[in-house]
Amino acid sequence: MKKALVFVVIGLMPTLDGYTQSRMSPADSLRRDSINKVTQQDYNQMLKQLNITSIRPGANGNNPSAPNAANYDEAKANPYPVLPDALTLKNGAKVTDAKTWLNLRRAEIVEDFDREVYGRTPRNLPTVKWEVVSTANETNGAIPVITKKLVGHVDNTSYPQVKVDIQLTLTTPANAISAVPVMMELAFVFPPGFNPPRDTSRNAPPSWQQQVLQKGWGYAVIIPTSIQTDNGAGLRSGIIGLLNKGLGRKADDWGALKAWAWGASKALDYFETDKAVDAKRVGIEGHSRYGKAALVAMAYDARFAIGFISSSGAAGAKLHRRNAGEIVENIASSGEYHWMAGNYIKYAGPLTWNDLPVDSHELIALCAPRPVFISAGNKGDGWVDARGMFMAAVAAGPVYKLLRKKDLGTTEFPAVETGLMEGEISYRQHNGGHTPAPNWPVFIQYAERYFKK
Ligand code: GCU
Repeated sequence: MKKALVFVVIGLMPTLDGYTQSRMSPADSLRRDSINKVTQQDYNQMLKQLNITSIRPGANGNNPSAPNAANYDEAKANPYPVLPDALTLKNGAKVTDAKTWLNLRRAEIVEDFDREVYGRTPRNLPTVKWEVVSTANETNGAIPVITKKLVGHVDNTSYPQVKVDIQLTLTTPANAISAVPVMMELAFVFPPGFNPPRDTSRNAPPSWQQQVLQKGWGYAVIIPTSIQTDNGAGLRSGIIGLLNKGLGRKADDWGALKAWAWGASKALDYFETDKAVDAKRVGIEGHSRYGKAALVAMAYDARFAIGFISSSGAAGAKLHRRNAGEIVENIASSGEYHWMAGNYIKYAGPLTWNDLPVDSHELIALCAPRPVFISAGNKGDGWVDARGMFMAAVAAGPVYKLLRKKDLGTTEFPAVETGLMEGEISYRQHNGGHTPAPNWPVFIQYAERYFKK
């Protein structure tokens, strides 16, 4: 049964696409067409700003005989093997002490990611007023819990045409005697009527929420699309559109990943005010596009104590310089550019991946010295390039070591199900599909080391 479940989950994205296409009502398909049209208009205005007329095509992940089929041949995967050095300042000087990293080099890397990759989070962000909409005493598994439904009302007096209400739920053990650690997930919302496959057999493993509760911790679920819609058409609304007063983005404006990460930080602001939560022990988890967002949140907000970064792939933990599975050109296309700064599109033509001033090992390094778990599956999860994420995790090591923390401990790619869990950077490829599920027990054991008082 476990096997069957894992199999179904591998197929989640294709299944979802198939589902949305085959069962889409005429109204829904009209809506989709108009989203695509508006996205294309927004994308075109960004290309115009960048003076780009066309970009190189992305990798084709569906058809292995296509001329631009995604590469899975390791011999061809490293066209640009030399990575920017996380520990060399722009002026060429080597960083050899923690102070220089923290005071100088880290800021240089943040600036490069802000300008060229993820965009700048605006400084003048409006306040968020958290409202507890309901509080329920319930049980999950056999454990009595208290679940609060929350809405974060974003002050929109600067542009009332755009309204942003962040959706969040927080569940903590009802019998806790003191504030508990909390794991927060950036969660997918599936289309109405679509129930993601679930193992309902008698010996089904407990859900991640139940596993977390068994440790005496709480969990939270935040809905990223309530912060910022997941398409280019939505860039003139959501928190990005609110700040831009309904106008298009500039080339270094923030993209959805930064916006989602900002929303997660706002949830953390709330946790700091809720006595049930130990806000010094809040971790963040996300899978796939939300794995990217979870890593960005970890990198940019030092209050997150630990990160579980699942199958984040391109624009997440995977090296931008790798040619394996998804590549820069896919992320720079009209379907995904909204995650990023407009400037990122330049690296899909006329510039190359090698022109990027930073790479993802440096995003992982921004999380230092806090523990971060980079993970993927091995069945049908090639698109996320597990090895490219491993290589980034290895290359982040020197920064962790400079801060007197442990790196991965090896440069050798580990076998499936062999977790490298000794250090503050950790890595594991589970024996399953495009899902975080099989790595949850491993992550929880890892987090326990840090969450124990
Ligand atoms: C697509 C996309 C990935 C992303 C994934 C997801 O496959 O190319 O970058 O991670 O969707 O979020 O499901």
